[in-house]
Amino acid sequence: MNRCNSGTDSKVWMRKGKRIFTAETPEVLAVFVYKEGELMDDIKCMRRALELAKMAEGDTSPNPMVGAVITDSSGNIVGEGYHHKAGQPHAEINALAAAGDKAKGATVYVTLEPCSHYGRTGPCCEALIKAGVKKVVSAVTDPNPLVAGRGLNRLREAGIEVVNGICEDEARKLNEKFFFWITHKRPFVSLKYAMTLDGKIAADGGDSKWITGVEARTYAHYLRKTHDAVIVGKNTVLHDDCELTTRMVEGKNPVRIVLDSKCSLPVNSKILNGEARTIVAVGEEPSLTNLNAVKLLKNVEIIKLPEHDGKLDLNALMKYLAEQEITSLLVEGGSEVHGAFLDAGFAERVYAFIAPKIIGGRNALSPVGGNGCKDMGKALCLTDIEHKELGCDLLITGRTERD
Ligand SMILES: NC(=O)c1ccc[n+]([C@@H]2O[C@H](COP(=O)([O-])OP(=O)(O)OC[C@H]3O[C@@H](n4cnc5c(N)ncnc54)[C@H](OP(=O)(O)O)[C@@H]3O)[C@@H](O)[C@H]2O)c1
Repeated sequence: MNRCNSGTDSKVWMRKGKRIFTAETPEVLAVFVYKEGELMDDIKCMRRALELAKMAEGDTSPNPMVGAVITDSSGNIVGEGYHHKAGQPHAEINALAAAGDKAKGATVYVTLEPCSHYGRTGPCCEALIKAGVKKVVSAVTDPNPLVAGRGLNRLREAGIEVVNGICEDEARKLNEKFFFWITHKRPFVSLKYAMTLDGKIAADGGDSKWITGVEARTYAHYLRKTHDAVIVGKNTVLHDDCELTTRMVEGKNPVRIVLDSKCSLPVNSKILNGEARTIVAVGEEPSLTNLNAVKLLKNVEIIKLPEHDGKLDLNALMKYLAEQEITSLLVEGGSEVHGAFLDAGFAERVYAFIAPKIIGGRNALSPVGGNGCKDMGKALCLTDIEHKELGCDLLITGRTERD
């Protein structure tokens, strides 16, 4: 494999001074040199593998989404595959099965470093070695401490040419929840709200149906599908009687969670209808009559959490969710709950839907209550901002800076 040199027919690929990809070698600073066409082919195949990975969006947790493409020596695709669900074969195994004998001497593009350990399934590295592949191109090192470079090293030891880091940014973004979960051991938290142009999430009387149009609301259902769980505060259930399902899109329902310290919600609330696994988080002294009634409901669990200043302890909640292998959590309000998550430092991404409407009213709620910060210098800034028009509404999303 060529290394950085001054060859005339080669280019070191830089993007505004940033390497597009780095070598996964002991000399981490090495930058590979590609012939122009060769790199573009690798990027094209990796983008196809990323596309395949995304086909299982919302279905693979607690595993990441992974896609794989296999090409022969002329660059023709001879096999494709992706990981469908935890416990089922990994992307490489599905792609190898599709390629059959054609995998011998082939190049395998995979969106995450192949695994080297026995988890729910066997190690993909050994399968790749057994199939006799010549080269493995990977997008990003697996942050799972059980893999973390061991997969790529095992392939190299077996004499397979390895390139790592092709389309790395895209691969990291695709699995941002998994990368966070595996390194922080708690769910990746996204805050989501819909507000009017004057920054209100409900009218003065508490009504919030509907702030945005059908396109934005459909997108919000897609967000539910792509998170393991969704959470709201008691007041949101009382005002909206929300179902928190994915009925406007295809896909699994997330686990529904409601913060209700006294266990005071009516048992006929839609969130307690048994349509999806539901967790009611209560405090130290819930109403026993209501608690006993909720305990009888199908698909509804109660968890007791410690309280601080009359509010349920979110640290204890996060610990419990991590034990349940809930890797991502969509916080759907209301204002107090958003404020509590931000004050506690639990927010990795924000999805703000903005509708071209004005409601006014000094008592109408804004998206984030809680303590907030006293001066602009302490404002939480978002990075990697993206925006999208959804009907006549606008979605702005970004990562929080503190991660
Ligand atoms: N436009 C939107 O995107 C959107 C989304 C959601 C809601 N909303 C609107 O927002 C309004 C409700 O918001 P809200 O701020 O009044 O109430 P909320 O955030 O929905 O619920 C707050 C309540 O949750 C319980 N809770 C328990 N532990 C908590 C903790 N650690 N942090 C915060 N709350 C905790 C508390 O009740 P207990 O003490 O009884 O446990 C608290 O009073 C409604 O009008 C709804 O329509 C709008």
